[in-house]
Amino acid sequence: MDQFTTIADQRAWSRAQLLAGKRIGFVPTMGALHEGHLSLVRVARQKSDVVVASIFVNPTQFDNPEDLERYPRTLEADLSMLAGAGCAAVFTPTPAEMYQEGHATFVEVVGPLTDKLCAATRPGHFRGVATVVTKLFGVVRPDVAVFGQKDLQQVLIVNRMVTDLNLPVEVVVAPTVRDPDGLAMSSRNRRLSAAGRAKALGLPRGLELARQAFGAGERQSLKLIELVANELLVHENVELDYCDVINLNGFAEVTTADHRCVLAAAVFVDGVRLIDHIHLDGRAIAVADVDV
Ligand code: PAJ
Repeated sequence: MDQFTTIADQRAWSRAQLLAGKRIGFVPTMGALHEGHLSLVRVARQKSDVVVASIFVNPTQFDNPEDLERYPRTLEADLSMLAGAGCAAVFTPTPAEMYQEGHATFVEVVGPLTDKLCAATRPGHFRGVATVVTKLFGVVRPDVAVFGQKDLQQVLIVNRMVTDLNLPVEVVVAPTVRDPDGLAMSSRNRRLSAAGRAKALGLPRGLELARQAFGAGERQSLKLIELVANELLVHENVELDYCDVINLNGFAEVTTADHRCVLAAAVFVDGVRLIDHIHLDGRAIAVADVDV
């Protein structure tokens, strides 16, 4: 596997692939990789000839400098995992390489995708994501880019941006990978103690209870949200950041759930922020399912 740290080197490699008629698949990450990230590499391999991953802890998407500093960095392990998963190249730029002196351009998606959920509680976060993803696309020049459903709002924002800016990239959503106990894999999980993890399990358990209640006929959003809150708020040092029923048709918060809705939540467990959601119909989500 090739590793590039400069924009020029990654560009030259990508140009050679495109000239050879290869379709480039791309998996952007912030490192501290786990099986969830590797599953995206496998999806990208199915949809392309060569896969590039990037590892870049993007400073512009962190609203809190401490969170940026504490973000886990495990480069050596990440590189061997990516090579094992069949990546052909990995782009690992420094912050100075990505944000050169005088950098003054940002990409911002506005509207229903960016006025709620993580956008409401993490101001500037998605502006940083949209900006860095646009920049990475300009360097890597992928034909297809794979993002995890776990960060549903993120992939929908990236897809909106790609459509609006006429970027020649296909955006693909890959399903959320969970540990056997049900917790969605996340680089942040390694910051949980055993007791913290036990508390965090209330999140997937509550979402699953809500899905079952929906299946049994419950349609009131408040009742579904209560099922999640009840699994979490019984513990000390657990705080709900948000918990909402969102209709994928319009991406609005709704008081009455239907078959096009997801229940999405963010929770702080011992200060570690975790997110998860469930489609009330129990289905995996593709970008084509969402009208916004
Ligand atoms: P990061 O959190 O490292 O995630 C990289 C990709 O892995 C994202 O598309 C994310 O949705 C996906 N992912 C994370 N956990 C997953 C899981 N359990 N199952 C499936 N996919 C999972 O998201 C980012 O980085 C950044 O915002 C980035 C897009 C790289 C821009 O900086």
